Amino acid sequence: MATQETGENPIKSEGDIVTCRKLIRNAATAAGFGMTDVTRIVTAVSELARNVYVHSGSDGVMRWQTLYQAGQVGMRLEFEDFGKGIPDIAQALEAGFTTAGSMGMGLSGVKRLMDIMDIKTEINVGTTVLIEKWGRAK
Ligand SMILES: Nc1ncnc2c1ncn2[C@@H]1O[C@H](COP(=O)(O)OP(=O)(O)OP(=O)(O)O)[C@@H](O)[C@H]1O
Ligand SMILES: [Mg+2]
Repeated sequence: MATQETGENPIKSEGDIVTCRKLIRNAATAAGFGMTDVTRIVTAVSELARNVYVHSGSDGVMRWQTLYQAGQVGMRLEFEDFGKGIPDIAQALEAGFTTAGSMGMGLSGVKRLMDIMDIKTEINVGTTVLIEKWGRAK
């Protein structure tokens, strides 16, 4: 599996969320994803970068890579923070569950939009959310 492009961006401020969105819009478009998939991926980036900013109580980082495998193109992204962690992943994934008085639709939405979503978390150590989206390479 060849890695074609990689990058990372810190998540420390509201402005960093905008930068993450722009970086991934460009990378996914360059990789050959169509407009609909680019929108799905950028929406997921928005939600996960915002979760780091709003919920983790710490800084974080987004890392991304473009992958090519068996005629498919993929984008793999990781959102890592060093914050408070998620006590109950299954509960956090329920549509409507929130500890912040918002919609509680972020994680459930991202899971629907992506092909893969994997959450690793430890209380007062941090959280890493890995997502992948795959499509036919052009
Ligand atoms: N990086 C994180 N660190 C700590 N807790 C998190 C993190 N991401 C999510 N959570 C927890 O999981 C809950 C559900 O997240 P989700 O994104 O689904 O909803 P929300 O952020 O509360 O609302 P919405 O995304 O709809 O504005 C959050 O309310 C929060 O308690
Ligand atoms: Mg959210």
